[in-house]
Amino acid sequence: MSDNTISYSSEKQSLVSAEPMAEDQELEILSLRPEKLYDYVGQTDVVETLKIAIQAATQRGEPIDHVLLHGPPGLGKTTLAHIIANEMGGTLTVTSGPALEKGGDLIGLLTNLESGDILFIDEIHRTPKTVEEFLYPAMEDFAIDFVFDKGIHARSHRFQLKRFTLVGATTRVGLLSAPLRDRFGIFRNLDFYSEPDLVKITRRSASLLKITIDDSGAAELARRSRGTPRIANRLLKRVRDFSQVRADGVITRPTVSAALELEGVDEMGLTDLDRRYLKTIIEYYRGGPVGIEAIAATLQEEADTLVDIVEPYLLKIGYLTRTSSGRKASEAAFRHLGFKVQSRLF
Ligand SMILES: Nc1ncnc2c1ncn2[C@@H]1O[C@H](COP(=O)(O)OP(=O)(O)O)[C@@H](O)[C@H]1O
Ligand SMILES: [Mg+2]
Repeated sequence: MSDNTISYSSEKQSLVSAEPMAEDQELEILSLRPEKLYDYVGQTDVVETLKIAIQAATQRGEPIDHVLLHGPPGLGKTTLAHIIANEMGGTLTVTSGPALEKGGDLIGLLTNLESGDILFIDEIHRTPKTVEEFLYPAMEDFAIDFVFDKGIHARSHRFQLKRFTLVGATTRVGLLSAPLRDRFGIFRNLDFYSEPDLVKITRRSASLLKITIDDSGAAELARRSRGTPRIANRLLKRVRDFSQVRADGVITRPTVSAALELEGVDEMGLTDLDRRYLKTIIEYYRGGPVGIEAIAATLQEEADTLVDIVEPYLLKIGYLTRTSSGRKASEAAFRHLGFKVQSRLF
């Protein structure tokens, strides 16, 4: 097995990309992870669903149904997997789709699970097809089928597993095969966080990190966090550094603004990559519609990075629309970037 298991595979990383980065594994960031549902801010529908499922399963003395979590990076999918394990009192094993290269990698993990344990597969849409086939009977019947020999001598042997819970996380549910998706009893979407929720998260993190931030500072940081808790936590640390060196310690709105300006995060929370993406559509393709591959080629970025990290938030705030003929920058995006709006474009 590749040694990706127990850690997260991470590719492209920058300060405000919502991708997990090494920093995420630092004790200080890990300690910011809520451990119980009670501490998990926002996402009230998801929390309610899980609360009921956990309570009902506990009453019956059974593990909870398999859970599939979908949403852009940094919104709390991995955190929820940890919380489910904590609430159920099971041991959590963490792996990811790309880390499971062969069927044997998965079988090794499955046969080690005890009853009530949680197996978390991050980026489950990137699980190889051959490995995915072992998941079907494992999820449905808690069994794996080994096939010995080939051709007419082929024999199969069924190996019984303990009753475990699979928690899958994905940024692209559309890439999941229907048979896999259908085997999850609970399927929930995580959405971007509201500003009040991000203020709560910022305040909670600040108090855990012993940082003093006033109301105006917390509100400003929340507003610029792209609706994403991971970004709020990361920006909080940068703002703390800035205020330690350039200001007097207490973090206020002007400190947040000055620190984030230095980081290239604008008043809307957009990063350099967000702005380059929108500018490409506006300057090279007259506002669109344009296909994602063309944008990616012009920007010299991976189309996947744009689809997973950049686009969801721009769609959310209405700076981008997706039509059958491609991506279009909205009038609001033109204005935000200081372009003249030519009305015939809209
Ligand atoms: N609902 C939440 N309440 C408080 N903090 C959160 C919440 N969701 C996420 N976080 C914080 O954001 C960070 C990133 O969350 P994570 O679960 O790793 O995101 P994902 O797996 O969806 O990419 C975590 O370290 C955690 O501290
Ligand atoms: Mg994660």
